[in-house]
Parts: sequence; C-alpha cells; structure tokens
Amino acid sequence: MRSYEIAVVPGDGIGTEVMTEALRVLDRVSSEFGFGLKFRHFDWSCETYRKTGRMMPEDGIDRLRDHDSILLGAVGFPGVPDHISLWGLLIPIRREFDQYVSLRPVRLLPGLTPPLRDGASADVDFWVVRENTEGEYSQVGGRQGTGTDQEMVVQVATFTRRATDRILRYAFDFSRGLGRPNLTLATKSNGIYHSMPYWDERFAEISAEYPDVATSQEHIDILCAKFVLQPERFDVVVGSNLFGDILSDLGPGVTGTIGVAPSANINPERVHPSMFEPVHGSAPDIAGQGIANPIGQIWSAAMLLDHLGEEEAGAHVMRAIETVLGSAGAPLTPDLGGRAATGELGSAIVNAIGERGGR
Ligand code: NAD
Ligand code: IPM
Ligand code: MN
Repeated sequence: MRSYEIAVVPGDGIGTEVMTEALRVLDRVSSEFGFGLKFRHFDWSCETYRKTGRMMPEDGIDRLRDHDSILLGAVGFPGVPDHISLWGLLIPIRREFDQYVSLRPVRLLPGLTPPLRDGASADVDFWVVRENTEGEYSQVGGRQGTGTDQEMVVQVATFTRRATDRILRYAFDFSRGLGRPNLTLATKSNGIYHSMPYWDERFAEISAEYPDVATSQEHIDILCAKFVLQPERFDVVVGSNLFGDILSDLGPGVTGTIGVAPSANINPERVHPSMFEPVHGSAPDIAGQGIANPIGQIWSAAMLLDHLGEEEAGAHVMRAIETVLGSAGAPLTPDLGGRAATGELGSAIVNAIGERGGR
C-alpha cells in the first residue's frame, strides 16, 4: 500500500482545533482511496516557548526534514511577541526548506455570502502566487537613537534576481497550466523606487518567454480596490512576500470569510518537504470556544494530497466541502453565518467523504 509520512504541527490557538478536523478528514479519505498516512505530531507552540525559551528545538528543522509533507495549523499567541514566535517556527520552515512558492487559491465556495454586494459575482476564482522566502520579510536593519528625537528604525527589503525570477516563472507556468493564461503582477513602481521597478522589469523580460499568457500590472493600492470591485477579472496574481500576504487575506475576505482559505508553501523541486497551512492565524479572540471554521485547514489538507500525487483524493475532499456548504441546513460555523461547532462542520465533511464512496 502506498504510504506517506506527514509531520503535523498544530501550533497555537484554533490551530489545534481545526487540525483535529483535518486529520479526521485525511484518515477517512486515505482509507476510502486505499493509501496510508502516518502522522508524526510536533507540539511546538508559544507554550513550548514559555517552557523552553524556543518555539521549536534546535534540531527542529532536521526533525521535519524526512517527512513527505508538513501540515501546520497556526503559530502565534498573545504573551509571546509575534515576531519572536513566527521567526522561531513558521518562517524558518519556509526558508530552510526553500518553499519559495506560497500558493493561495481564492474561491467563492457554495453557501458563502460576500459581504459587500448583493448578488456579487459568483465568479471569484483566482490564485495568489506569493514569493515566500525574502523581500519585505527580513531581519536586516536595526534601530538607533532609541528614546531620543533622532530615533530611527531601518528595515531592509531584499529582492534577488534568483528569487524574483523563479517566482515569476512559476506564476507564468502555473497560469499556462490553469488553461486561463491571464497573469497580473502586483507592483508599486510609482512609489517604491528600486525594488518595484525591478519587479516590473523582470516581469516584462520573462513575459517574452510566455507570449500565450496575457499580462497586466496593477499598483497594489488600486489592485486592492479591484479585488473588491471586480474580483472576477483575476485568474492568477503574483506578488512579493508582503503584497502576496495582504492580497491573500483580502481575497478570502471578499468571499465572506478567511476561515476557508488554504495555502501551500511549495518547494517545487521537491528537494525538501512542502508545507500546507490555512491562511488564517491562531484567532485568539475565538480560541478555546470550538467555533473556528475548519475548512481552511481541510482545504489545505486537500492541497497536501494533490502535492503527494493523490489528486483524486484531494478532489474528493473538495467535493465533500462543496457538497456540505451547498446543502440546506448545513452545520455552519459563526463566520459562515451559522451556529455550529468546529466538530459539527468537520463531521459533516467527513460523512460527505464516506457517502460518495471512494474508488
Ligand atoms: P487571525 O487570522 O488569527 O484572526 C483574524 C480574525 O479572523 C479573527 O477575528 C478570527 O477570529 C477570525 N478567524 C481566523 N480564522 C478563523 C476561522 N478558521 N474561523 C473563524 N474565524 C476565524 O489573524 P490575527 O488576529 O492577525 O493573528 C492572530 C495570531 O495568529 C497572531 O499571533 C498572528 O501573528 C498569527 N498568525 C499566524 C498565521 C500562521 O501561522 N500562518 C497566520 C496569520 C496570523
Ligand atoms: C500568513 C501569515 C504569516 C505571513 C505571518 C504570521 C508571519 O500572515 O501566512 O499569511 O505573513 O506570512
Ligand atoms: Mn497573512
């Protein structure tokens, strides 16, 4: 029997709650489709930090290395400064494993209610391709003159040709593979003097290799407005680490909730494991209440299955999510307008997987 080893890092807050549901879904779908999943659990979190002074052990990255994939919940919780917790766990995984593509689908799933317009376009269906290893996310810089009126902070953003070109090429290839070759570059070359003109330049040069892919460039400010006003016009949007981060919360926000949004942190060369996690965080405001929407985590698990080559199983999980969301009386969590608990929505999806049968 085919079998895969998955590292499971639930993390903090609702990360642990939604992970429970994703693992139930994975158990069910793997037995329906006849392959094995072995989960190895790592309880690294802000709690670990409070006990040990570290988010993960010194050899944490090495402990993850030999897995086929990593499934992560969310990292960060009040009590530990966010830049400490995230730079102690999530960001090192992305970098050490050279997961340079953050792939984030945005889709108006059945049953979702877009908050801004009645009868808004049902055609919200696009992908954010985010550079995931450098750029604005940097520890380069510093502070001087602390406490004086000369106080100053410098934060350096670095954009290498290697990382810029590889994410752009990935986005062009991905657009081509989608069968909707329409790629938008998120830029800000009117105000950011060096880096964004550089992105424009690399985008223009690489686009010559892809004459079949229609391209456009939008400054990040108006792009945000167009996500809200005309989301149907986008198919694939590529951007820097920070722009991709912002757009991948805005997109799901436009569909009604970020609780459904998944992401894949991909090392396309498959030299290192890739990591799958919802777009949302640990949601301290609802943590412990059992009301978090588990779909972002479950959809992330479906992306993990696709990455393992179990695309039929991944597609089956997506059908189960859509069946449940589209059915009358579905047990919806509060972010979806319902009153159901995390486990009730998770159970409905697990049951929908069984009802349809596997192969
Ligand atoms: P958040 O995504 O945790 O929460 C934002 C809002 O969305 C909250 O009101 C929350 O209740 C709601 N929400 C999020 N996920 C939901 C779900 N599944 N179901 C229902 N509602 C949901 O963002 P934040 O408040 O900015 O961050 C909280 C913590 O999480 C911080 O420590 C932050 O750094 C961290 N964070 C981690 C990740 C990650 O691990 N990938 C991502 C984002 C934020
Ligand atoms: C995300 C998160 C992280 C990011 C934070 C928590 C560092 O917002 O995965 O979108 O900005 O990458
Ligand atoms: Mn984010």
